[in-house]
Amino acid sequence: MTQSSADFGIIVRKPGGPEELEWSELPAREPGPGEVRIVQHAIGVNFIDIYYRKGAYPWPTTPLIPGAEAAGTVEKVGQGADLKVGDRVAYTLPHGAYRVRRIVPADRLVKLPDSIAFDVAASLMLKGLTTQFLLNSCYRVKAGDVVLVHAAAGGVGSLMGQWLKSLGAISIGTVGSADKIPIAIQSGYTHVIDYRAEDFAARVKLITAGDGCDVVFDSVANDTWRGSLKSLHARGLFVCFGQSSGPIADFKFSDLAAGGSLYATRPTLFDYIKGRDDLQMRAADLFSKVAAGEVRASIGQRVSLRDAAQAHRDLEARRTTGSTILLP
Ligand SMILES: NC(=O)c1ccc[n+]([C@@H]2O[C@H](COP(=O)([O-])OP(=O)(O)OC[C@H]3O[C@@H](n4cnc5c(N)ncnc54)[C@H](OP(=O)(O)O)[C@@H]3O)[C@@H](O)[C@H]2O)c1
Repeated sequence: MTQSSADFGIIVRKPGGPEELEWSELPAREPGPGEVRIVQHAIGVNFIDIYYRKGAYPWPTTPLIPGAEAAGTVEKVGQGADLKVGDRVAYTLPHGAYRVRRIVPADRLVKLPDSIAFDVAASLMLKGLTTQFLLNSCYRVKAGDVVLVHAAAGGVGSLMGQWLKSLGAISIGTVGSADKIPIAIQSGYTHVIDYRAEDFAARVKLITAGDGCDVVFDSVANDTWRGSLKSLHARGLFVCFGQSSGPIADFKFSDLAAGGSLYATRPTLFDYIKGRDDLQMRAADLFSKVAAGEVRASIGQRVSLRDAAQAHRDLEARRTTGSTILLP
């Protein structure tokens, strides 16, 4: 039998703060049928990693290995897996990415074009595919649509601004401090509001001459959902796709009627890439946007995988901009 390569990564033994992220040797195994083992070169950090670490989302195993996106090179191919040693690949899966080597089902991997570097891919697989499905499938944005996005200088937010600009939308981004305003402007937003300094719903009404937006993409949730509903015009769409400030409390179904017969959805990327064809189609669209120069990865921080706890502290304290990459 071939000797498995030793593996290391980050585990969490019990839900808690960043101090629970522990560097550890991990059991290694050979890839089974339909699987490959990859050596990971870059791993993306996401807010979902924090939800899992805190125990807000149920753990599949204990200890948990967090991490939802990464890129690397295939080093071993299991029986029937449609890839070869040396292929450059990337993936998004809800957890398990904070490690040096990883076994992944081949049908969850996408091959990387040569023009896409590993760190770029690791910053795009979750955040970029999220942007792709939100703006194309959750709501199909057209030129001239008025779109509000919260946390506009963040990982997803900075990709949303660029993609919206490429579609010809009128985009309004909110940020949590004055120093993030230029970052959101650089990311392509037509208007930027510091939502901790002013009432963003009132500003949106001013910008839209009282009309309101067609759609709000709200990943902040508890602190923003009321203002988000107020920012929509009648029959507008409220998309709550995250909860960086905590889950929505006190929402009543009748709030949608009071806001003007509004629509609301709480989507998750993994339901939009369940099938292999969906995953490939969305990744191809994302990579073509990158190749056309319409969407650029915005990597604000690079941190050693061993220092994942610091990356979590910074993300939770709103100190990061763009994406954070962990380097194994
Ligand atoms: N549904 C899906 O499939 C899906 C997929 C990917 C990501 N998401 C969601 O998208 C959001 C963005 O993810 P990301 O990884 O790119 O993170 P991020 O936007 O880079 O970081 C989160 C940002 O949220 C804002 N925020 C507002 N209140 C906060 C609070 N109390 N604590 C911490 N941050 C707060 C901060 O920006 P300001 O300082 O500018 O307010 C912070 O920088 C997350 O909510 C995530 O769960 C959802």
